[in-house]
Order: sequence, then structure tokens, then C-alpha cells
Amino acid sequence: MVSPHLCLPPQLFSSAFPFHFVFNRDREILQAGEVLRRITLTELVGSQINQHFHINRPRIEFEFDLIKQQSRSLFILESRHNEMQLKGQMMYVEDEDVIFFLGSPWVTDTASLGPLGIKLKDFATHDPIVDFLFLLQAKNTALIDTKKLTEELRQQQAQLRSALQIKENLAEIAEAQATKLKQALNELQQTQSQLIQTEKMSSLGQLVAGIAHEINNPVNFIYGNLEHANEYTKDLLDLLNLYRRFYPEPYLEIEKHIETIDLDFLLEDLPKLLSSMKVGADRIRQIVLSLRNFSRLDEAEMKAVDIHEGIDSTLLILQNRLKSRAENPPIEVVKQYGKLPLVECFVGQINQVFMNLLSNAIDALHSYDSQRSLMEIRRNPSKITIKTAVHHNSHVAICIADNGPGMTEAVRARLFDPFFTTKPVGKGTGLGLSISYQIIAEKHRGTLRCVSEPGLGAEFWIEIPLRQRQPLVGHLAS
Ligand SMILES: Nc1ncnc2c1ncn2[C@@H]1O[C@H](COP(=O)(O)OP(=O)(O)O)[C@@H](O)[C@H]1O
Ligand SMILES: [Mg+2]
Repeated sequence: MVSPHLCLPPQLFSSAFPFHFVFNRDREILQAGEVLRRITLTELVGSQINQHFHINRPRIEFEFDLIKQQSRSLFILESRHNEMQLKGQMMYVEDEDVIFFLGSPWVTDTASLGPLGIKLKDFATHDPIVDFLFLLQAKNTALIDTKKLTEELRQQQAQLRSALQIKENLAEIAEAQATKLKQALNELQQTQSQLIQTEKMSSLGQLVAGIAHEINNPVNFIYGNLEHANEYTKDLLDLLNLYRRFYPEPYLEIEKHIETIDLDFLLEDLPKLLSSMKVGADRIRQIVLSLRNFSRLDEAEMKAVDIHEGIDSTLLILQNRLKSRAENPPIEVVKQYGKLPLVECFVGQINQVFMNLLSNAIDALHSYDSQRSLMEIRRNPSKITIKTAVHHNSHVAICIADNGPGMTEAVRARLFDPFFTTKPVGKGTGLGLSISYQIIAEKHRGTLRCVSEPGLGAEFWIEIPLRQRQPLVGHLAS
């Protein structure tokens, strides 16, 4: 079988292989592809091939025979006019003693085609490089698209970020304002409570001081004269006894009167009566003293005082509430006083704290007792324990504890808030502990803590320095 002899006319060949060329032994170009001719500025056909190209690979000169021997190699030619490289094969045609170069531009980037004056459509469609170029172009478009998308994404991210930032800023501003408002409200409440308390305490203090003063004088008349009354009575009784001894048989009228007044009982009772009057007057004097002690609110000066005296005065004022009454069983007060030096403080204010803590304990115990059975009360009677001690040689610690109902965590958390009360309207103001806290923490640089659990009573711990080094300014009554 004879294979069909294919022969393309030069025009067809030239468009089928747009980058080919043919040269003879004299290196004269006999024929060239149409694109190669177009992009080479001078006429190719008839000129010398080595004027236009040199061989990069294999490393040989443009020698006809050398090329003929290497015709199975891959050839890379480089243009002498621009940077174009051609990649292809040299084929020797024996009949005509010429060499065909069949190849196409060697490109790795479609962008490099432009400067060479080559377009994609200049390649023959069968050329595998076309596929490669399409792929390259697709890759490039994809790359460009990706770049664009990335840029868009970046912008959107930036926008989002700034939106988030704005949101954050707004939230921050809102939070700061809320905090400020809360602070302002807190301050306002404190000022208000302080004002109320100051007002209350100063008018109460004045009242108490006034009454104490008023009672003091008449009580001193009584107390002072009781001594004389005692003496005079004794003298009179002695005289009476003398009479009875020397006039054992009195007149009938006297006899009758003696019976009417039950003289024997009178004689026996009168001294007792006088001494109990003395005890009573003594008590009144003590109460008056306590009241004055307690109401020393107007004392702006810090003084070294006996803390126990302050507690005792307060207890005396509260005596009435500790005693057994129709509706309330008695409350026992247990004092466990340590040995304390004088403590520097605003005594009126500190007494006010004792008053607040003790009356809270009494309130709690009374309300507890009103819910307990007699049996329970008898088994575990209401009790307030007051302990004092010196801590670390520098502080005095005072604990006022009760065995009342205690309190829940929720109550404990709000204990020192101004106006927080669990008592019925009209009974509690919710100011006692907030004021006490201020007095201890702010005016005396101390601490006021509460330890309590439901059913386990409550303990309030006061701790203040024995000495207040720097002068403290301001106090409640000012
Ligand atoms: N010893 C205590 N036992 C139980 N609860 C107490 C005690 N002391 C204080 N509390 C609670 O703390 C609240 C606030 O006390 P306080 O500030 O003195 O205000 P008030 O006595 O006017 O209610 C009280 O209503 C009460 O619920
Ligand atoms: Mg109270």
C-alpha cells in the first residue's frame, strides 16, 4: 500500500503553520508562515535566516548540516529583533534538500504576546499551544476576577469593621453614660439619705439634749434632797421612838391614829421607800447622763473615748425595748467586753452606729419571736451578744450579734444600700445601715461587715483604728 501523498499549496501551509519557515543550505529563507512574516518588519523570504534568529537550544550555530543531524531535538530560537522565542522542530526534506522549522511562539503569559504584535487568533487552531494559551488567559481572568473580588471583599470587610467600631463606640458611650447616671443617682441617694439622717439626728439630738437638760435639774433636786429627807426622817423616827419609850401610854386619840396609819408598817416601810426612791432617782440620773452622752452629736471634734461607755448608754436608752412586754419576750444582752484603750472617734456618730445595729437586732428578734412558738422561744431565747477586742494592736473590733432569723444572700447583698428595707412601710427607713456604713468606712476609715445566713442569726463587725492619724474633716451634723 502506498500512503497518499499530501501536498499543501504554500498559502494553505502558511496559514496552517503561521510561524514556520523553510531554508536551504545557503541559509536563505524560501518560505515563511503568514504571522511570522507579518510581525517581522523586514521581508523574510530571500533573506538569511541567521539575520533574524539564533538558536538557544540545542547549543549549535545556524549550520545546515548540524541542524540536519539534530533534527529530532527540540529547538528554541530567539529573534534578533525582539524578545520573541519560537519553540518547535526542524525537519529535513531530502527531495528538496531544505529544512522546515515547525513551531510556535514560546510563551508563559498571554500578556507577553501584545508587545510582539501577536494575537491569539494568529495561532493555528490545531496548535496545542492554543489550548495552553486559553488556559493561561482563563487563569489570568480568574486571577483578575479573584483580585477584584478580594479587593471588594477587603472593602466590605473594612466597612464592616468600621460599622462594628461605630457600634462598639456607641455601646461604650451608652455604657459610660449609664455608669455616670448610676453614679449620679447613687450620690443623690446618699446625699438625700445623709440630709434626712442629718436633719433627723440633729433635731433628735437637740430634742434629747434639751429634755435631758430639763430633767437634769429637777432630778438633781430630788437626788440632792433625798439625802436630807433620809436624815430628817431618821431623826423624826428616832424622836418618835423616844416618845414611845417615855410615854408608853398615849392618849386614846393618839392610840387610834396610830392604828389608822398602821404606824408599825409605816416605820418599817418608810426607809425602804426612801431607799427605793434613791434607786429610782439614781436611774433617772443615769438615763439623763446617757441621753446627754448619746446626743453629743454637735461635738465636731474627734475625742478619745471609752467605747464601752457608748455601748452601755445606747443599751440603757434601748432598755425599754429589751425588757419583756406583753407582745415580746425579753431579750438577753450578753456583754463580752475586752480590755480596750480609749478610742479616737466622733463619739456621737459611733453611738449612732451602735444604736442602728442594736435596734436592727431588736427588730429582727421581735419579728422572729412573733413567729416562733413558746417552746421554741424557751429552748432558744432571744439574745444579743456584744463582743469587743483590740486587733493587731491598732484597731478596735466590735461585734454585735443576734440569734434572730438571719438574712438571705439577696438581702445581704443590698444591706448597705440607702433606702433598702424589708420592714413594713412606716417602720423602716432603710437608712440605718447605709448611714452606719458611711460613718465607719468614710468618717473613721474602718470597716463594717455583716456575716449572716438564714436561720443562723446575724453578726455585724465594726473595726476602726484606735487613732485617726490625719484630722478627718466633715461629719454628719455639719
Ligand atoms: N440583725 C439583722 N437581722 C436580720 N436582718 C437585718 C438585721 N439588720 C438589718 N437587717 C436587714 O437590713 C435591712 C436594712 O436595715 P437598715 O438599713 O437599718 O434599715 P431599716 O432598719 O430601716 O429597715 C433591714 O430592713 C433588714 O431586712
Ligand atoms: Mg435599721
